[in-house]
Amino acid sequence: MNQVFTQPVVSCTISDENRQFYADVIEGLKAEPKRLNSKYFYDANGDKLFQELMNCPEYYPTDCELEIFSEKTAEICDALIADGDAFDLIELGAGDATKSTYLLKYLLDKKADFTYLPIDISDNVISYLNITLPVTLPGLKITGLNGEYFEMLKKAASISPKRKVVLFLGSNIGNMPLDGAIEFCRELRNNLSEGDMVLIGMDLKKDPRVILAAYNDKGGITREFNLNLLRRINRELHADFDVNKFEHYPTYDPETGACKSYLISLQDQHVTIGNEKIGFKKDEYIYMEISQKFTIMQTDQIAINTGFQPIGQFFDTKKWFIDAVWVAA
Ligand code: AVI
Repeated sequence: MNQVFTQPVVSCTISDENRQFYADVIEGLKAEPKRLNSKYFYDANGDKLFQELMNCPEYYPTDCELEIFSEKTAEICDALIADGDAFDLIELGAGDATKSTYLLKYLLDKKADFTYLPIDISDNVISYLNITLPVTLPGLKITGLNGEYFEMLKKAASISPKRKVVLFLGSNIGNMPLDGAIEFCRELRNNLSEGDMVLIGMDLKKDPRVILAAYNDKGGITREFNLNLLRRINRELHADFDVNKFEHYPTYDPETGACKSYLISLQDQHVTIGNEKIGFKKDEYIYMEISQKFTIMQTDQIAINTGFQPIGQFFDTKKWFIDAVWVAA
């Protein structure tokens, strides 16, 4: 259902599902400095660009974590199986479940007693997994949950009293500012019970040039990935961004581990979004995304400070990425 969203000078319709998106975009672009939320990168085109990014030579995190999952499957699963009691294996932001499929296969072969509960904000993802996984993995018990992470974790707890093992992979935690990541882990802990587990993927600090190149690939996919959000705003929020008037600018600070990307306005300009007109000065930036990189010690500290005990660490051969196992204390 469509409805008029603000009192318009020029009438404009924003669909109900885009009201929050519109409010966040306007708030972010009226702020000083300007910002957009990277959670909005992932429309259908953004998903496609992210898939391309994961296959591009400079973007190493996916390959590193895949190496961990394919080479250390048994050790990871043994840590998660623990005493062998029945458990619910919950994945936050499951996507196409490529990495977790290594674990699912091994756990099925081992005849572990578990149910897989992928959680994703996209109902397409959940229907896809509900339909395809039982075919590729016969015998898999799966209950896909479509919605926000913490709401769905509460739902998972209400569905079954079994021990929970939560997968949060891909260094998605890095897309939150550090204090936000800590807050997220605390809330995750509050939604779990003592003895529940988390397997969390985090990208580690390394040669700054390697990190910067991953967010500034020669093929320009990261650039397109960022500009795609402006295109999405044009399409869904009736805006008139000229993407040729903005340039992608990634930075990495080896001291803090913050890898940030910005879009820089190439000239003084105005952009109309719905009923709002936003001015940009030449060289003014929009802060688009943070991809935080961590030290190994920091990953332990985050666990301890948020009510977990770190009990296992799995690395790729280059030690560029960690999948850490935490137990709710
Ligand atoms: C999804 N997330 C962990 C990616 C990252 O590395 O921060 C998103 C991304 N942004 C640019 N390239 C990849």
